Amino acid sequence: MTSIYGKYILLTGGSRGIGPIIAEALAARGAHIALAARSEVGLLATANNLSKYGTQTMIVPVDLAQTSQQQSLVETVMISFGRIDILINNAGLETEGAYLDLSWEEIQKTIEVNLLAPMALTYHVLPHMLERREGHIVNIASVAAKIGAPYAATYCGTKAGLAEWTRGLRLELEGSGVHFSTILPGYITEVGMFAKFHLKSPSLLGSTTPNQVARAVVKAIEKEKLETFVNSSPARLLSVACEISPSLGDWLKKVMGVVEFQRKKVGKRL
Ligand SMILES: NC(=O)c1ccc[n+]([C@@H]2O[C@H](COP(=O)([O-])OP(=O)(O)OC[C@H]3O[C@@H](n4cnc5c(N)ncnc54)[C@H](OP(=O)(O)O)[C@@H]3O)[C@@H](O)[C@H]2O)c1
Repeated sequence: MTSIYGKYILLTGGSRGIGPIIAEALAARGAHIALAARSEVGLLATANNLSKYGTQTMIVPVDLAQTSQQQSLVETVMISFGRIDILINNAGLETEGAYLDLSWEEIQKTIEVNLLAPMALTYHVLPHMLERREGHIVNIASVAAKIGAPYAATYCGTKAGLAEWTRGLRLELEGSGVHFSTILPGYITEVGMFAKFHLKSPSLLGSTTPNQVARAVVKAIEKEKLETFVNSSPARLLSVACEISPSLGDWLKKVMGVVEFQRKKVGKRL
């Protein structure tokens, strides 16, 4: 069991959505947290909320879609904290829409923030962790990593990439002292990129609360869990079906209402 108490954590996506809730769960366990995102106002609000725990908090306004800012984020936190024990790649964006209705810039930005930024931050943080022979990298992927959904193909692609990249790296660095966890939430209620649509997810796909995600992150770190689905079981079974038989998976996605639901979401965006 790894203790979170006293650990120095870099959390991206700390300005809104589930990031502030994950940050609070960690600060409540005695972690010092560097919060990164673009919105300084959002970061300050999160930092303000964490002050009651008496741990160290710093904010780093950063645009993770800019390659040059990815390395400088790690350097800035290393200078202030002196170390990064845990990196949580949580920042992300979903680009809803029919593939050809999206601009190429939107697609590139989604890949940069969801996939390349976690890879880059890990690239820059890993040497320090390997030198100390300890560290933990938590990647917030999504059930979408396992269930390719229409009108969110780019998002699903980035999350699938993130999940499989984590699997590969984890095995490569087995025994190094650095641990990797992937969190796979389903549709999250209350806050975040799905809640903003004010739509109810298909009942067979279930949903999850922000607190459940935060608890999953805590447990992943404390118990060095490799992958955690944070959703009700039908979605997990659907992901297994998609693996075993892609045609069965596609059929189930239609029957379970995934396709119709994704269309509705796009309709809300337009
Ligand atoms: N909500 C869900 O239903 C759901 C389900 C499964 C997985 N997830 C995953 O959970 C994570 C958090 O999602 P959420 O629902 O909390 O989303 P959200 O409410 O949209 O928040 C996204 C976070 O990422 C940051 N971010 C976005 N673009 C950025 C950029 N270019 N540079 C730096 N930071 C950036 C945002 O901050 P700024 O705007 O201030 O930059 C914000 O803090 C994501 O990886 C998402 O894919 C969410």
